[in-house]
Amino acid sequence: METPLTQHISFDRPCYNLRDYEKNGGYQALRKALSLSPESITNTVQASDLKGRGGAGFNTGMKWSFVPMNGHYPVKYLIANADEMEPGTFKDRMLMEGNPHQLIEGMIISAFAIQANISYIFLRWAYKKAGRLLTHAIEEAYAAGYLGKNILGTGYNLEMYLHTGVGRYICGEETALLNALEGKRATPRAKPPFPQVSGLFGKPTIVNNVETLCNIPHIINNGPDWFKSLGKGNDAGTKIYGVSGRVKRPGLWELPMGVSMRELIEDCAGGMANGYRFRGALPGGASTDFLVEEHLDIHLDYKSVAAAGSRLGTGTMIILDDHTCPVGFVHNLEHFFAQESCGWCTPCREGLPWTEKILLSIERGEGRPEDLQLLETHTRLLGPGNTFCALAPGAMEPLQSALKYFREDFEKHIDQKKCPWR
Ligand code: NAI
Repeated sequence: METPLTQHISFDRPCYNLRDYEKNGGYQALRKALSLSPESITNTVQASDLKGRGGAGFNTGMKWSFVPMNGHYPVKYLIANADEMEPGTFKDRMLMEGNPHQLIEGMIISAFAIQANISYIFLRWAYKKAGRLLTHAIEEAYAAGYLGKNILGTGYNLEMYLHTGVGRYICGEETALLNALEGKRATPRAKPPFPQVSGLFGKPTIVNNVETLCNIPHIINNGPDWFKSLGKGNDAGTKIYGVSGRVKRPGLWELPMGVSMRELIEDCAGGMANGYRFRGALPGGASTDFLVEEHLDIHLDYKSVAAAGSRLGTGTMIILDDHTCPVGFVHNLEHFFAQESCGWCTPCREGLPWTEKILLSIERGEGRPEDLQLLETHTRLLGPGNTFCALAPGAMEPLQSALKYFREDFEKHIDQKKCPWR
């Protein structure tokens, strides 16, 4: 966001405090936003085509436009979803540790746009350092008059609370997050009604991802056309992309939306580590389908990745190399998803541990030829439309694509009655 494009983002750089942030133009967007009407802010964000950076890519301004603005709803909430637990994904952590005021400013502007007076940051339990830095930054923002009563003398009031979760993946699902904040068991709710109309404690609520909110001050400062001009594929703006796995330089980079996979892996991450060959990648965390060598030149934007049969998701790529067993790789992911199932709906609660068990038996050389058919059946039964939320369908994405692209690896395990990588 505030980093020059294509700069490698380091966790070692010092955190911006309020003075640094203001010196670099921080809170100017808030001053500007408070002089505008809430509706015009929503229109600007909608015109910018900012899509949700948490993984789903829903148009942010459009989401805000669903919040009733007719005065019949005196209580509304704005929530930053900082429960970043998607495997391979650590972009929001970097944003919060590097520049917490950017998130806070984005939240205040967003809350003003929907006329919410209470906001929460729902933070992943393991993000201790981000928690300390955010606590300090929120105190600084209150002391400077950016939070609290009568913000900058405009009559607008906003309280901000940091709430730490207990370390469950499901809390990143927005309605499970709402239940957790209400002190209930963190299971997803049926949608509709969507939170924009009936969210926290039944009141209109917007839940946005950290990276999404960090874009807001820049869109207000520079306008929607500027934001659109930053993208080079089908989508607007920049994106924090990541690469993990056996590359020379794993990490995060802020890049124009729509860079190619090849640019990201070769130019930014320095290519594969010596002695390792690229076999495939999950483009946006674990709950996305594999892309393979033939896809290296596609644009990493929502539409292009979908056309290639996957999803951009969080844009933080996990690479599979030729020294790693794809069956073991997918088993590891399904172990995570089975463990993180909230148990609310039967296909997910029962289906994920069963899927994991089949994969484990194949990996141990105890698989049967009919297991591949059974796994394929699971990918359908746990797929979209058959479960309460996106957790199980997301878990099926790496599996279904591994069965497509790495089928011979599964077959070798069964034929040879052992893992060929051991
Ligand atoms: P979704 O597509 O159901 O919803 C995305 C957002 O758009 C939500 O805020 C929802 O309220 C809104 N929305 C969607 N359709 C709407 C409609 N018809 N009317 C009004 N609002 C609507 O996706 P979901 O289930 O919220 O998120 C799934 C995504 O989360 C996956 O793509 C996955 O990549 C990502 N994810 C990210 C994680 C992370 O750590 N960042 C962890 C787990 C999953």
